[in-house]
Amino acid sequence: MSIITTMTRMWLTRSFKPFQFMNEYDQTLSYQHTEQLGLYIHIPFCNNICSFCPYCKEKYNKERCESYLDYLIREIHAVAGSSSGRKQVTSLYFGGGTPALAIDRLQEIIDAINSHFLITEGVGVELHPENVTVDNLLKLKNIGVTKISIGIQSFQEKFITMLGRTSPDYSKMFKALDEVKLETVSMDFIFALPEQNIDDLKADIAMAFANGANHIAIYPFIDFSFTDSTIPAMRKKEKRKLLDEITLYCESKGYHRDSIWTFSNNAHIKYSSMTRDNFLGFGCSATTLLKDQFKINTFSIDEYEKRIAENKLPTSLTIRFTERQRMIYYLFWTAYSTSISSHDFQAFFKKPLGKAYGLELWLAKILGFIKVDGDVYKMTLKGAFYYHYYENYYTLSYIDKMWGIMRKEAFPKEIHF
Ligand SMILES: C[S@@+](CC[C@H](N)C(=O)[O-])C[C@H]1O[C@@H](n2cnc3c(N)ncnc32)[C@H](O)[C@@H]1O
Ligand code: SF4
Repeated sequence: MSIITTMTRMWLTRSFKPFQFMNEYDQTLSYQHTEQLGLYIHIPFCNNICSFCPYCKEKYNKERCESYLDYLIREIHAVAGSSSGRKQVTSLYFGGGTPALAIDRLQEIIDAINSHFLITEGVGVELHPENVTVDNLLKLKNIGVTKISIGIQSFQEKFITMLGRTSPDYSKMFKALDEVKLETVSMDFIFALPEQNIDDLKADIAMAFANGANHIAIYPFIDFSFTDSTIPAMRKKEKRKLLDEITLYCESKGYHRDSIWTFSNNAHIKYSSMTRDNFLGFGCSATTLLKDQFKINTFSIDEYEKRIAENKLPTSLTIRFTERQRMIYYLFWTAYSTSISSHDFQAFFKKPLGKAYGLELWLAKILGFIKVDGDVYKMTLKGAFYYHYYENYYTLSYIDKMWGIMRKEAFPKEIHF
């Protein structure tokens, strides 16, 4: 870890204590009094494995998937079974992997969730383009799914080939989206691929909004060290130019920016499993963020099942936050939505934001990263780029290291930053 990162961490957390993830966990999670709680469920199976993808997944096998789902349902009851009544939660998101490979059992999983939780803002599912058929969309709609996110990556053959994927018959996909309407239809794209320019991205964005999407996510390509991808990362200067051009293009079209990488054609439309104050995650590699801790489940499907069979939670690592560490986590993830509200910070920590980070906010304002609008700090275009840049750096130095280790070791002893 570089000296600059360590110094920054010490400055922001006002402590020498590193972010320490330990091989220990609470068998009973205390989330009952948590407000704004979201739920996430991970399904780690795909028909084909993409070489660039960092997520926890393996090639689909029916028997293995069925067994995993049995244990997943047991994990839900193990986490939530000890509380009485149904806890109100915002949303439930299924991610992966390819959750549609478990489509015929999603109802059973949602029933398990509904026996302990009351979902108020709908259910979302990530889909591979090949999953977008009339039959699947009807099945999803019938079990209460209101949001979908489709991993398009690019509508252009040259980039899909570069990514080692194949394009489906888009006309069938668009027809299915036209026939079965859902509240949120988001499409995922990757930018900063070699030789990709703003015209390529404008064409993708226009194609999405003209064919059923009301929300898009444009992620920068990240070259994780543990993947087999040979695609080189784009240079910082070129990437910044592209990100600014994408933002300006979307703004010129009147699209609403609801996070660093997401835009919608309606400000009420949202698809995000990330921007929650707190969440519970179920399944391999799923993370849980509570007021006092963050925990990650094991990446090993075998060890996941073994732990649950022993009536233990499948947690691999836990970090127990100091208050300042939790503030940094809160600010980092809230900033992802491009604004931070002093009122919300005060409600969460019972302390004024200006008192906790007055100097840093003043500096961010002087440097042109944020603007103040009432009690809300809003990110400028420059701020959004530097946030994006730091997030990229964070992903490569923290997530890359952690996931790299967790893919090899089911329960590492300790990881610290
Ligand atoms: C779990 S996948 C989406 C659903 C489905 N599995 C699919 O691939 O179509 C989540 C999204 O992460 C993004 N993603 C995966 N690997 C990435 C990488 N190395 N850099 C940037 N984005 C990536 C892709 O846009 C992908 O659609
Ligand atoms: S990008 Fe999607 S389909 Fe490809 S391996 Fe990752 S999760 Fe599976």
